[in-house]
Amino acid sequence: MELQEVMALDKEYFMGVFGDRLPVMFSHGEGCTLYDSTGKAYTDFLAGIAVNSLGYNHKAFCDAMCEQVRNVMHYSNYFYNEPQAQLAKKLCENANMEKVFFSNSGAEANEGAIKLARMYYYKKGQQKYTIITATNSFHGRTLAAAFATGQPKYHEPYQPVVPSFEYVPFNDLDALKATITDTTCAVMLELIQGEGGVIVADQSYIDGVVKLCKENDILLILDEVQTGMGRTGKLFCYMNYGVDPDIATTAKALGNGMPIGAIMTKTHISEAFSPGDHGSTFGGNSLACCAGNAVLKEMIDNGLIEKGAKMGEYLKEQLEVLAKKHSDICLEVRGKGLLLGMEMNSSIMPADIKKAALKKGYIITTAGTNALRFVPPLIIEKKHIDGLMVCLDEIFSAL
Ligand SMILES: Cc1ncc(COP(=O)(O)O)c(C=O)c1O
Repeated sequence: MELQEVMALDKEYFMGVFGDRLPVMFSHGEGCTLYDSTGKAYTDFLAGIAVNSLGYNHKAFCDAMCEQVRNVMHYSNYFYNEPQAQLAKKLCENANMEKVFFSNSGAEANEGAIKLARMYYYKKGQQKYTIITATNSFHGRTLAAAFATGQPKYHEPYQPVVPSFEYVPFNDLDALKATITDTTCAVMLELIQGEGGVIVADQSYIDGVVKLCKENDILLILDEVQTGMGRTGKLFCYMNYGVDPDIATTAKALGNGMPIGAIMTKTHISEAFSPGDHGSTFGGNSLACCAGNAVLKEMIDNGLIEKGAKMGEYLKEQLEVLAKKHSDICLEVRGKGLLLGMEMNSSIMPADIKKAALKKGYIITTAGTNALRFVPPLIIEKKHIDGLMVCLDEIFSAL
């Protein structure tokens, strides 16, 4: 089908939640390059929104997936499952966690984490159910995850509110302290607010949050859906902070494009869930866990996290050089590893830069109110980064 035909079908039959999409349709990919239906190549600094960390047509990943499709994709959680058990072990061993549950998405992992935190205190017979989250956060689109998200635009149309979420400004320990009550069961945070504009948590803030949680018998839930899976230079971003959360969630790059998320926790917390308290039809099926195992093999056994971390340093350096050259419009470069943002002057529309880059064969995205966001596959190389710098330099110079 031609792009125009697909656009017409989309307009007629698909709910308008994505508005006018970028007018490109990809037919295949190789490494860090996507090809559109006309054969034009695009270097990818989006990775399907921080998902495709191994890039496209990754041989070991594709071989494992094809074999798993032929063997068995899904047969329900009524039975034992080898890829699922293997993935649970590998995640726990490398994340300093003890128990895992697999979901289908990041929002669903967060829903499960919220349920687990409430169940933990319910089983103890304590009236603790309130969850404190940060303003400008993003935790997903399901109803509780949308109300966990500290942005009114995600709440207003969906009243009445899902109760017992409190919002505090990010990086403000006093505000958090003032909001804690006897009913607080959890504090739920991103260590870098990705969708919110690549806003990085201060080390002293996180140290303070950990202390407050311990002192007040509150669980710390870290949402690592975007920051996790090697994106910020370690398997999970909490490892950059030297923090050991009670519950962490992940998704996105765990499946390299295969939908899978995870809730990770400690044994004594996981025991709050009895058989039947939580579950999923698809979550953790053989194919999804095969993807997770192939991803972890590359990331941990084959050193992809370290390679990505090095490229993250290089990309940040290069963005800083560019920002200095165009200091009239580039205000700040921030982020960790390969989750980087560039804050633009308010006279600039980041979406226009994104469109101009696409025309020049580079896929980037935006975040927050006025930032560009760079989340390439972890297999990105210097040559790709150098190419993007030329592309952005040309665009900025022409503004
Ligand atoms: C931090 C964070 N949490 C949760 C989600 C929701 O994940 P999903 O879209 O897989 O439901 C996202 C998605 O962008 C995210 O960035």
